[in-house]
Amino acid sequence: NEQPKSIIVIFGATGDLAKRKLFPSIFRLYRENKLSEDFAVVGVARRPWTNEELRENVKKSVGNLQTEDTDIDKFASHFYYQPFDVTNVESYQELKTLTEELDTQYNVPGNRIFYLAMAPEFFGTIASNLKNEGLTATEGWSRLVIEKPFGHDYQSAKELNEQIRHAFSEDQIYRIDHYLGKEMVQNIEVIRFANALFEPLWNNQYISNIQITSSETLGVEDRGRYYESSGALRDMVQNHILQMVALLAMEPPIKLTPEEIRSEKVKVLRALRSMSIDEVDQYFVRGQYGKGIVEENEVIGYREENSVDEESNTATFVSGKLMIDNFRWAGVPIYIRTGKRMKEKATTIVVQFKDLPMNLYFNRGKDIHPNLLVIHIQPEEGITLHLNARKTPGATASTPINLNYCNNCGDKMNTPEAYERLIYDCMLGDATNFTHWDEVALSWKFVDTISEAWEQNKAKDFPNYESGSMGPKASDALLAEEGFQWWPVG
Ligand code: BG6
Repeated sequence: NEQPKSIIVIFGATGDLAKRKLFPSIFRLYRENKLSEDFAVVGVARRPWTNEELRENVKKSVGNLQTEDTDIDKFASHFYYQPFDVTNVESYQELKTLTEELDTQYNVPGNRIFYLAMAPEFFGTIASNLKNEGLTATEGWSRLVIEKPFGHDYQSAKELNEQIRHAFSEDQIYRIDHYLGKEMVQNIEVIRFANALFEPLWNNQYISNIQITSSETLGVEDRGRYYESSGALRDMVQNHILQMVALLAMEPPIKLTPEEIRSEKVKVLRALRSMSIDEVDQYFVRGQYGKGIVEENEVIGYREENSVDEESNTATFVSGKLMIDNFRWAGVPIYIRTGKRMKEKATTIVVQFKDLPMNLYFNRGKDIHPNLLVIHIQPEEGITLHLNARKTPGATASTPINLNYCNNCGDKMNTPEAYERLIYDCMLGDATNFTHWDEVALSWKFVDTISEAWEQNKAKDFPNYESGSMGPKASDALLAEEGFQWWPVG
């Protein structure tokens, strides 16, 4: 294992993301010897915590990951806390002094990761101050990691990007999309480009449609305020879903370098068919959850949630039909859907192949089951291939059979957390699984038309799906119009 040496500064170290994802991911890297003892983490946030308080919190958040040969106290001793006011230059000066001291103490050659895990309104200020106060002018490298939301629409994302780019160059900026850290999302490329079986069929001659579902059972939780202004479209489609579309539809890159892969992804996003505001309804369906039963529990509707307007028009569900107007994909709908409070938690991709020109077999009166390649992203990780074969000797009917490969069934611990991977990649300077500005810009432009249409034209039927269902009926109709149906995601 390469063991990169760095000081990681986490802005927003008292927050939820740090506790739930970042501390555990850093711990896992430590446990797996991907970090030597030569690293330090500086947590900064407004609260007047001490090193001890931060360390206690770190220990709590990683406690359940401890193994016999990891010393959790020793791990926590690498953490330092500094109360911080993002608008005050003195805070940056103190931080500079502290990080320089830690360089010496931990043999770090001036390498810095500045991880912004906090409210996006301060991203620009922090980036400029880091540069102006000399925190990025070290002997080593400096990288900026940014969490979403990266803007609210194209215009605000552009302004934010310009602010950040004053202080950091594009190759120093690591925009997180945690879906890109998931094992099976990374596997899409491998499945496509390492199998003679799929790539020749991966086009409009053999594929009839592709379906991407990311369904959640959780509601909006305590994020009502954020979610009211984002909704499912900005929260999930602009980033995670469009990233999966790009990986599924891109041309084979000439090399597996970040530049080549990103440039192929960008071409897909450029080829997405744009819609006029009036056309949005033909392609997209929105939903909002009412009350219902999810995983055997009664739950309230979205409008009753904390910090949510009683007459909210925010969509908690989106489904849509994307068309990629290029030679490979012309005519093949890519259906997407995502929502909160749905029947099950699953992210699944189904590639449906076209029917054969003629059916020689009886299939109990039904047509032959189409061949499907199902990529299970989560919770199961794996692939299922739906084929037809004969099960009964001598029969003239064919029966659908499944070939299954489960990636995480043996030992769940084998799959690293998405964040663990992404933090490590950032330390190694590998930006492949982070989003380039060009991707962010194109995704926003695509999504902006939909949000504008929905803002101009409020939904009149909200709430329109019961919690615990797979979304509104209109979402099924979207596929039925073309003779398709959503395949099960589990
Ligand atoms: C986040 C969204 O980006 O992704 C959340 O803000 C959503 O609303 C989450 O719940 C889903 O991630 P995962 O990894 O649980 O599918």
